[in-house]
Amino acid sequence: MMTFSKPFGFLEAGNDWNNALHQIRAAGDSAAWVGQNPWLYRLCQQTLFPIFGNPLALSNRNGSVREFAVIQSTVRQTRGAPAQPDIMQKLLHVHDMKPNTFNDDAVRSMVATNIFGGAETTTSSIRAVIYFLLKDTAALTKLQQEIDRVCHEHSWPSDVPVALHLAQSMQYLQAVIYESMRLFPANGLPLARVSPPQGLEIDGHYFPPGVQLTVYSWALHRNKRLFGEDAMEFKPERWLDEEHSRDLHRCFFSFGYGSRSCLGRNLAWMEMLKLVSTFFRKYAVHLHDPRATWVVEGGFIKGQKNINVLLKAR
Ligand code: HEM
Repeated sequence: MMTFSKPFGFLEAGNDWNNALHQIRAAGDSAAWVGQNPWLYRLCQQTLFPIFGNPLALSNRNGSVREFAVIQSTVRQTRGAPAQPDIMQKLLHVHDMKPNTFNDDAVRSMVATNIFGGAETTTSSIRAVIYFLLKDTAALTKLQQEIDRVCHEHSWPSDVPVALHLAQSMQYLQAVIYESMRLFPANGLPLARVSPPQGLEIDGHYFPPGVQLTVYSWALHRNKRLFGEDAMEFKPERWLDEEHSRDLHRCFFSFGYGSRSCLGRNLAWMEMLKLVSTFFRKYAVHLHDPRATWVVEGGFIKGQKNINVLLKAR
């Protein structure tokens, strides 16, 4: 919706429309290992691709999501802009300003990249929030009390999604999302940077030019020196501790860091705030089998299986 002002049609179709989610997952799985070996990528993509096609799903970014982008951009050019500018419109505006450096193809690639980068990551982060809360009923009760209190104080109707400004004011909700994304960073791989031509010194260690350096969020987020002896536990309260929370935020790595950090962070955060608050306001949710544990899978973008829940309107 945010990109095209138009849904893809998953709900109407009642299935994985045009195999799009499957393609995104397959691209993520192969990126997990081919992406760590640039020579293998070059071999598969540049040399073998014309002969064998795309068995490793490396070109899936050119699949249904991109096709949808191509159709939508053509339709947009004939029908004109939507009333509320969406991401596509903003990219087309850049294209109008710089037609040579940001051509039609770049608009479509950018749109497809955002969807590849923003779909499964946000989904599995939300799944993590739901799972951790269902495993910790005290935290869930505390969150629902906060949601109910804030909505009641603002006489917010129960049949409309929770407004962003209300969800933003819910401190415990924010803490729950940070804590879930700390224990479950959606990105499952180290994202390397290359040391500059003059080399680099970090904490007394010298790295020569061209060395790949990385910080792995799954390890960093479980470091007891940074997050305390209870680093392995789900404890949203740690983010509300005024004395330490600034340091914790500095070590929060789920969206990466620096000049290549996630471009969709604010958008994803907004989606999560609205969705989680509205979901738990509306429904009493329980794990179908409270003893069952999830199965974590995937490489580049981690997913989870085996979370079966029972929903009842509250
Ligand atoms: C909870 C959801 C999300 C998570 C956990 C996430 C995580 C990440 C991570 C770890 C990176 C790499 C950062 C680095 O190398 O330092 C990244 C990059 C990126 N993300 Fe996200 N992301 C999320 C949602 C989104 C959304 C919704 C969009 C788009 C609408 C998006 C667009 C991008 C783009 C375009 C990049 C590449 C930035 C660049 O290379 O300059 N992401 N994301």
